[in-house]
Amino acid sequence: MQATTSSFENLRNDFPILNRRVRDNKKLVYLDNAATTQKPNQVIDAISDYYKNHNSNIHRAVHALAEESTEAFEETRDKVAKFLNVEDSREIIFVRGTTEGINLVAYAWGRDNVKEGDIIVTTEYEHHSNIVPWQLLTQEKKAQLKYIDIDDNGELMLEQLDDYLSTGKVKLVTFSHMSNVLGTISPVKEIVSKCRSVGVKVLIDGAQSVPHMKIDLTDLNSDFYVFSAHKMLGPTGVGVLWAKKEILEKMSPFLGGGDMIREVHKYETTWNDLPYKFEAGTPNIADVIGFAKAIEYLEKIGMDNIRNHELELTKYALDEMKKVPGITLYGTKEPEKRGGVVSFNFNDVHPHDVGTIIDKEGVAIRSGHHCAQVLMEKLNVAATNRASFYIYNTKEEIDVLISSLRHVAKVFKL
Ligand SMILES: Cc1ncc(COP(=O)(O)O)c(C=O)c1O
Repeated sequence: MQATTSSFENLRNDFPILNRRVRDNKKLVYLDNAATTQKPNQVIDAISDYYKNHNSNIHRAVHALAEESTEAFEETRDKVAKFLNVEDSREIIFVRGTTEGINLVAYAWGRDNVKEGDIIVTTEYEHHSNIVPWQLLTQEKKAQLKYIDIDDNGELMLEQLDDYLSTGKVKLVTFSHMSNVLGTISPVKEIVSKCRSVGVKVLIDGAQSVPHMKIDLTDLNSDFYVFSAHKMLGPTGVGVLWAKKEILEKMSPFLGGGDMIREVHKYETTWNDLPYKFEAGTPNIADVIGFAKAIEYLEKIGMDNIRNHELELTKYALDEMKKVPGITLYGTKEPEKRGGVVSFNFNDVHPHDVGTIIDKEGVAIRSGHHCAQVLMEKLNVAATNRASFYIYNTKEEIDVLISSLRHVAKVFKL
């Protein structure tokens, strides 16, 4: 597939849902991709084919279906590893999503490594799933949770990280590679190198980055990295935790049950090898197999082409949106520093009213706190509207968004 605008438009045919009409027979303009993306036929068909032709449990029986299912499941693991430039696919742990991946680390690594007085550092622009597990851990251990604040541009104030690290008490620094509200791309390498120089572990929430840009985990050199398949054309209920093998090997298991054991006796158990030690019970086999097709799809387009396409849409959207009367745009004004996410408000008009009005035009955006209430407090708002773009979105769709926002401004006499 070539990276021309028309090739991006052609790929819309692969997504049946994009032909939907909604409300009063309006063409669907789907701009809620930071919440979840739509799925191409290739993914939908792979899941259906699995249930029609191969359905079986994996890693257990020796019959033909079990062998086929196990092979397809493990091939996905290899594909994920290659996609992220991870040499050893045993470092790829399948989980339900970003939320489960972070909780796994907070429980399995956190409970063994964090003690009273220690510090976990997170940021003000985290999703709740990268705050609440650390609140639970630090409260249980009488440890401390600290935040890197954001400045008026929506960027992290990194000098605060230096102050925290200088205490010698920090055990883990955890942050989103890209904010799901402001779209800010974090200075990942700088943070990792600061932490490395003092032996502090780093967890990166890649829920909003892996779908939108080339990620090379060997190059990034963090300790943990997590993301969700459903935000990158894949099915819901599948995510990945990547961690360095040496760390995973030392970590206690998270969930106990089938597949994660080597031997179980009445009062003791030994653990299976990686990655199975962290994959207790029957996994989400069909959806993991479907996820492989999502990765193939993205690879065919090329992650750098995807990033450029979204950057072009974002620049266009920011330019046009700032002309709409009464609008406040959040986050950095430099599009290169952000992903395809634009959060905004209209004076004191409630975001739900904005969302409802433009929904009548078929435009689907998100209105709410985006599971980022700490950030909402910082911005001094209860909620925002958020338009977020993906590979199948077009400038024409942004024009529809803009005209629906102009309509909102007119309704509220802004
Ligand atoms: C930055 C970020 N982290 C974590 C999550 C949680 O992902 P999931 O609900 O797939 O576990 C999201 C989802 O919106 C997100 O945007």
